[in-house]
Amino acid sequence: MNIHSLGYIGVNCTDPKHWVDYGTRVLGMMDVSAQLSRDDSVYLKMDDRPWRIVVNKADTDRYAFSGWELAGEDAFTAALHTLEQKGVAFERGSRDLVAQRGVQDLVSFSDPDGNRHELYWGPVSDFAQFASPVGIKSFITGDQGFGHVVLPTPGFDSCYEFYKNVMGFAVSDLMKVRFTPDPTEPEKRLYFMHCNQRHHSLAIFESPMPAGCVHVMVEVDRVDEVGRGLDRMKAHNIKLTGTLGRHANDHMVSFYMATPSGFMLEYGAEGRTVADWSRYSPFQSTVNSFWGHDFSVGME
Ligand SMILES: [Fe+2]
Repeated sequence: MNIHSLGYIGVNCTDPKHWVDYGTRVLGMMDVSAQLSRDDSVYLKMDDRPWRIVVNKADTDRYAFSGWELAGEDAFTAALHTLEQKGVAFERGSRDLVAQRGVQDLVSFSDPDGNRHELYWGPVSDFAQFASPVGIKSFITGDQGFGHVVLPTPGFDSCYEFYKNVMGFAVSDLMKVRFTPDPTEPEKRLYFMHCNQRHHSLAIFESPMPAGCVHVMVEVDRVDEVGRGLDRMKAHNIKLTGTLGRHANDHMVSFYMATPSGFMLEYGAEGRTVADWSRYSPFQSTVNSFWGHDFSVGME
């Protein structure tokens, strides 16, 4: 499957309005719900695309789906053949849903652990300029897409097969983690996977997560914006869930905070890209980060 990038994400919230303040005043995105929303859903814009995050009203706060952009109509058609060949049940997007997402065509399906995905091609864009309400110049998107998402995959082996052989992601790096110092605690695998030059657009973690997502990451264009984001997080009483640090695998300088939908959001800069994956050698890291990223603050 020739996936170009993570194009958009969907989240559920009991009160989507919580994402307006959070999205604009903390993340620094634009609230474009007035133009795009037909109900009480919230749309957030972070670049010249009309939107990248949709928040739908629901009974529970959780991550809802990942929208993957295919490299054109032929890639979309080929992807449907792959889903059929591999026996993955999928649903054609209704005309209404296709219009809502602003794409040419889309299908949706789940991985073996129930994580929801959409595949689409040809986003509709008016190329309206991004003007951040907090003065961010730009988020790093374009050919690298929205950012990355880390999904819970307790049935790790079947999910890994799925992402590798059905969706066509390749492994960038991996980790095997324990939550306690107890050596008898089974290790949980965390695999980072790519579909473009971003170090990882997807990671899969061998553990269940009630909010349907470990975290999503958005990248700003300079490390000062990460610091300003940290200041805004504090000013708006958003919970810090991981301190500032630099990751050993994608080199991202970032911090982690809560979102109104129960999962974490990583706010970062200086993530590395890989221009030629054929010359890259994946490794297993035994540490999360070169420095920082203390996640114990989230447990307090
Ligand atoms: Fe991350």
